[in-house]
Amino acid sequence: MVLLISMYAVLAIVNLTSYHVNPLHEGVIPVNMNTADIRGDIFFDLRSKTLPIECASDRANQTHDCRNQEVVDTDLVVTKLVMTVYGEFGEYARCNACNAKDVDPSSGLPCHGQNYLCVCGEPRQRDCTDQKPVGAENITTHFGGGGGCDWDTWIKYPWSCWGQEVVHKTAGPGKNTWYSSTSAGWCGAPGASPATCTWSAEVLKIVNKTCSDNSVYSAVEEYDALHDGRFAKCPHHPQTGPRRNTSDPCWIYSFYATVLGPDALMPGGAVAGMPVEILDQAFDRPFADEAQGGCPAIPPPPEAPPRLGSQRRYSHRSFGVLSGPQLQASFRAAAQLAAEEVAERRRRA
Ligand SMILES: *[C@@H]1O[C@H](CO)[C@@H](O)[C@H](O)[C@H]1NC(C)=O
Ligand SMILES: *[C@@H]1O[C@H](CO)[C@@H](O)[C@H](O)[C@H]1NC(C)=O
Ligand SMILES: *[C@@H]1O[C@H](CO)[C@@H](O)[C@H](O)[C@H]1NC(C)=O
Ligand SMILES: *[C@@H]1O[C@H](CO)[C@@H](O)[C@H](O)[C@H]1NC(C)=O
Repeated sequence: MVLLISMYAVLAIVNLTSYHVNPLHEGVIPVNMNTADIRGDIFFDLRSKTLPIECASDRANQTHDCRNQEVVDTDLVVTKLVMTVYGEFGEYARCNACNAKDVDPSSGLPCHGQNYLCVCGEPRQRDCTDQKPVGAENITTHFGGGGGCDWDTWIKYPWSCWGQEVVHKTAGPGKNTWYSSTSAGWCGAPGASPATCTWSAEVLKIVNKTCSDNSVYSAVEEYDALHDGRFAKCPHHPQTGPRRNTSDPCWIYSFYATVLGPDALMPGGAVAGMPVEILDQAFDRPFADEAQGGCPAIPPPPEAPPRLGSQRRYSHRSFGVLSGPQLQASFRAAAQLAAEEVAERRRRA
């Protein structure tokens, strides 16, 4: 019996359905990359819709995502895969794309020619690309514990508060997980030992990030059209559908107000907004057949172990941030909407 139990411990195998966003040219098997369950994927994606404002502001230099190739690259795709994990989970590693200077811009650590670097430990960070166990992080506990946005921040950068509560939206029993999987544990690596490797991955479908974004944006806009009609109140409309401008602060405000409810965009406000199940569907729909509203499948790129830095490059998607007077008008519109929502709440209270 004891023997049986210990064998089980050795042979623990878990199949995880996971998702990740990354540049297609890096390959989609998550070697030295992070993946997530669907809620973790939603969290990664939704918190970053304010980047067009943030990356044009004086806070751009403090924001890793303005330089994160998994956010700004021009050939981003979303991959749905089944990851098979052998053995126990270990410490979660933050794995990021290295830049053309052979540095991981998130940690500042050298990449030694790798495309991606996995980093463990806080605040003292160390390269843990040689760690075998698949790492897991509960992002509800990791990111959800803070006090949220404070008024000092809100007064200077109100938009920086808009995405902060997404972690509470995506929370749920058994949900909200990020994973890390390293080259050291990959069963597909040349010469990997089946006895000691810790993970393998089967790609289900790869889709264009733009197509996936449109699925999500449409779901949010459609929900709003049936409930509050915020997007329609922004200037320069039509603001939704293929002509939407995701750099417009009024569109961005309306997006978060719909997803999280307008209270959550203020310090101390509670999270409400559209049902998270609609978001689950919107994020998963791209992976359905095209006849069911899915996105076209992108053929898997060649995976070239050991994936050294030859393909590395520095490309940058432009966020197309609105210029001076347009930006001011759009901010005013967002502020006007926010003020109307406060007045409306008072009337209802
Ligand atoms: C941000 O950093 C870059 C170089 O690291 C520098 O050239 C630029 O002036 C900085 N911008 C701001 C707004 O601080
Ligand atoms: C995704 O679609 C956009 C817009 O249609 C296109 O510009 C981009 O090249 C596509 N990316 C990939 C990786 O196919
Ligand atoms: C993450 O933590 C939350 C809060 O403690 C819990 O409800 C949830 O089940 C955990 N998620 C996982 C995947 O264990
Ligand atoms: C969206 O923003 C860009 C960048 O400022 C601007 O050039 C474009 O005109 C805007 N699009 C629409 C439809 O308003």
